[in-house]
Amino acid sequence: MNTAAGGPDAGSIGEHEEPPVPVDRPPIVVAANRLPVMRTEEGWSPSPGGLVRALYPLLRATGGKWIGWTGDTDDAPAPFHVDGVDLVPVPISAAEVELYYEGFSNDGLWPLYHDALRESTYDADQWDAYGAVNQRFADVLAAESPVGALVWIHDYQLQLVPAMLRAQRPDLRIGFFLHIPFPPHELFSRLPWRNEVIEGLLGCDLVGFQRPMGAMNFVASAQQLLDVEAERSDDERTAVIDVDGRRVHVGPFPISIDVAEVEEMAAGRATRQRASQIRARLGDPEVILLGVDRLDYTKGIGLRLRAFGRLLEQGLLDPERHVMVQVATPTREAIEHYQDERHEIERLVGSINGRFSRLGLPVVHYIYRTIPFEELIPLYRAGDVLLVTPFRDGMNLVAKEYAAAHIDGDGVEVLSEFAGAADELTDAVLVNPHDEQALEAAIVTAVEMHRHERRERMAGLRAQISKFDLHGWADRFLDALADL
Ligand code: ADP
Ligand code: F6P
Repeated sequence: MNTAAGGPDAGSIGEHEEPPVPVDRPPIVVAANRLPVMRTEEGWSPSPGGLVRALYPLLRATGGKWIGWTGDTDDAPAPFHVDGVDLVPVPISAAEVELYYEGFSNDGLWPLYHDALRESTYDADQWDAYGAVNQRFADVLAAESPVGALVWIHDYQLQLVPAMLRAQRPDLRIGFFLHIPFPPHELFSRLPWRNEVIEGLLGCDLVGFQRPMGAMNFVASAQQLLDVEAERSDDERTAVIDVDGRRVHVGPFPISIDVAEVEEMAAGRATRQRASQIRARLGDPEVILLGVDRLDYTKGIGLRLRAFGRLLEQGLLDPERHVMVQVATPTREAIEHYQDERHEIERLVGSINGRFSRLGLPVVHYIYRTIPFEELIPLYRAGDVLLVTPFRDGMNLVAKEYAAAHIDGDGVEVLSEFAGAADELTDAVLVNPHDEQALEAAIVTAVEMHRHERRERMAGLRAQISKFDLHGWADRFLDALADL
């Protein structure tokens, strides 16, 4: 590892330090709101969320540049290198964190793009800050991208960057991938700056979404708002939009995980031992139900806790045989919707434990912390039933990581139909989490499932993720971009 002054210590964001693999492609430059590492009071640590988890191993393997924010205000150390990746920090001021990040991105776009699950704030000052930060990213990209590079911009925080970058660097091939859902036009059209967002994205050569539905929602909004011509494929999964004589390609590119990496970690003796220890510590229950999420109101953590509580109350689950573990990563803590969600979850945990725990043996184990990936893997292995119950989720990588970690071929997933992962993971117990009874029934089905069926379903899940893993995802996107 090679780190410049101001950069993190060796090994802080990854177990593996493979040298960059030379690939026959133009240089890659990634831009995302966050760098893969963030500055905290304790020093540098891995950034949260599925985006970093997916992209970082990829860039580590291919080499390239990553442009993003350190997570601290007014902080822009000199570019530094980690594991063969050049990290280029973009400064964001305290006022911009409030307006661009907490405000427009996470209190405006985030709820709107997730089925308007919470009221969005639409504020002109926030919009101005979003524009200013997007322009800064575009300027850094314009300065840092080698001639003819593939520039890959990520997620809803940076939707204006493609057009801003194209205005400065028409030589680049510009791709954008949205990690979260793109809403139907009826919802999207609430956004006061809807035309500007679509125009920003149309600066791309290729725009990728998690699901075909997201891709088609985007095409429909572009047509309705900007009156552009679009040619859809017969299967209505992809389209080409004409913009000022340029062709913008649109399609689904469902993201995945590094299956081999997770399997390798899961196979170690230390992982097996740690999984047994976890089970013993929980009082050797018959079934461990597990939830692993950022503490986000989209994830349906409260729904699953309530369902668990009702099942205990009805005697369909037994506190001496069934325990639940919920690990929740702190996230966006300055935003009121997140504070409310945390209070509600902690109230539920307290109330269920107050009613059903025994001395020294809580029935819900709740951890409000980010835990290192190497500790998450034994937890996945110890979990007999994974509960993934979002109201809406772009993909949900946890659902894929759990299957990859179950090299023992056992384990069941209860999975919301509203997670992108449900398109592929059809061997999970799929459920509409809005339906209380259906959710309870799905949990009981998973808990009581016969070993033979569990193994058959897990084999299906594992075959699916092996077929479409992270490297396949990136190759598909980057090859499509390079071929344009
Ligand atoms: P999102 O991107 O919305 O956070 P995903 O499920 O796609 O949701 O990705 C979450 C990522 O964060 C996964 O890679 C998962 O391993 C990781 N993660 C989730 N919760 C925790 C936690 N408490 N500690 C450590 N990592 C976590
Ligand atoms: O894709 C979901 C996402 O919002 C990513 O953009 C982000 O990296 C992750 O979740 C974590 O959120 P945040 O960067 O706001 O902490």
